Amino acid sequence: MSPVHVRAEPGEFAESVLLPGDPRRAEYIAENFLEDARLVTEERGLLGYTGIYAGRPVSVQTTGMGCPSAAIVTEELIQLGVRNLLRVGTCGGYHPEMKLGDLVIATAATPQDGTVSSITGGVPYAPAAHFDLVHAAFHAAGAVAPDRGTFLGPIVSADLFYDPDKDPQALWHSLGVLAVEMEASAIFTLAAMRGARAGCLLTVSDAIGSGKVERIEDSALKGAVDEMVGLALETLKALH
Ligand code: HPA
Repeated sequence: MSPVHVRAEPGEFAESVLLPGDPRRAEYIAENFLEDARLVTEERGLLGYTGIYAGRPVSVQTTGMGCPSAAIVTEELIQLGVRNLLRVGTCGGYHPEMKLGDLVIATAATPQDGTVSSITGGVPYAPAAHFDLVHAAFHAAGAVAPDRGTFLGPIVSADLFYDPDKDPQALWHSLGVLAVEMEASAIFTLAAMRGARAGCLLTVSDAIGSGKVERIEDSALKGAVDEMVGLALETLKALH
């Protein structure tokens, strides 16, 4: 039976799925990176496609913005038989040496969101990327994106894009947290609960310093995202 939101039947999704937040990015990935891609779900605009990469089926599914939406999509994809989930998104960079367009391979996601604490009942918990995905992404990055600044380490998943804190970098950088985004903690948690593997690759679209935010230009974002998606597909390929 089809889940409530990701309206598709078992078998319509590949075992490995890329997870962008943005439906237009899902469509772009399907059209430009996959062969024979077909739309498998469009409920609520959460577009999902299945196609072929390097001779194997791969899907791409929109999560929407924020952990509540990402949690619904992750849960339902796993119900549909998905085993490997790789978020491909953007982030605000906290590391002072980061440049716009740099790449982050997340190893863990501090859950500064309400979704993970709702799941755990408030018990402290550290959502982590699956080692297989971190390992595969780290090794593929050397081949796919050798000239791209690459940071590997922990991120934070927040509920707020517009953070009222005037200097969030001060805290997070002092704790060794590389970047902020809004979905990974829920995806990592649900994958771990259901025995699936999850990872997260991010392009730095905003550089967050004390009292200022610098935003990437659209053309630079496109080039960096293209490279990240190429890396993500090579990462999934290396998993088998
Ligand atoms: N904050 C949270 N999520 C983000 C950001 C940010 O600044 N940039 C891209 N995703």
